[in-house]
Amino acid sequence: MKLVFLGPPGVGKGTLANMFEERNNIPKISTGDLFRENVKNKTELGKEAEKYMNSGKLVPDEVVIGMVREKIKNMDSYILDGFPRTIPQAEALDNITIIDRVINYTATDKTIIERLSGRRTCPKCNAIYHTKNIPPKKQGVCDKCGSALIQRDDDKPEAIKKRLKVYKQQTEPLIKLYKQKGILVDVDTEKPLEKIYEATLKAIK
Ligand code: AP5
Repeated sequence: MKLVFLGPPGVGKGTLANMFEERNNIPKISTGDLFRENVKNKTELGKEAEKYMNSGKLVPDEVVIGMVREKIKNMDSYILDGFPRTIPQAEALDNITIIDRVINYTATDKTIIERLSGRRTCPKCNAIYHTKNIPPKKQGVCDKCGSALIQRDDDKPEAIKKRLKVYKQQTEPLIKLYKQKGILVDVDTEKPLEKIYEATLKAIK
């Protein structure tokens, strides 16, 4: 099964993709995680991507498309988390493969800002927590691998504002595109995580 998890920053795409990877064995491919890995390892790709990420801008299409094409070329099942994010990226994906379902996660801006402000992530295993909503068992420590949790550089108020603006301008048009193709299902995320998981499961069956 080939899935795309679409939605604004902080809506919960990564959290849900992690749940599907663990419970349903569908590998998660997060372009954000791939870029952060490259930034951490100070690769050329990471140095290029960092310039855009920290200020909340999108990394140029040709960089992202090349990276994803290489990653998925021999895979027949995955969740794309954070890709595509522009019309050219969606067109490129169309030329690479056929997507079975696009899940469009929704939430209000107020919820999104609250989720991003309290987010903590594990730099080692990419587990995602929230200081209030989904706290780790021990404050500041990853339940899964014991690493110290961090706050992402792009979860600062200015970058959050920019990311929401960029989402509305460049990514929201994809909703119409995938609706026209008849493969998009909306999933409201203003509810407990288990309910969102169940709604997603129903949407992909
Ligand atoms: P990326 O890492 O993809 O960031 P994003 O799309 O902005 O999405 P987020 O990771 O911020 O949010 P999410 O929806 O995964 O939410 P999460 O599950 O963490 O991209 C980062 C940057 O990389 C981009 O800005 C860009 O520069 C670059 N990039 C990446 N892909 C690109 C592309 N295709 N093209 C160009 N550039 C690209 O949850 C958020 C918080 O909410 C967490 O704290 C979580 O615990 C909590 N939470 C989740 N669900 C719930 C719930 N139901 N109830 C309560 N709390 C919840």
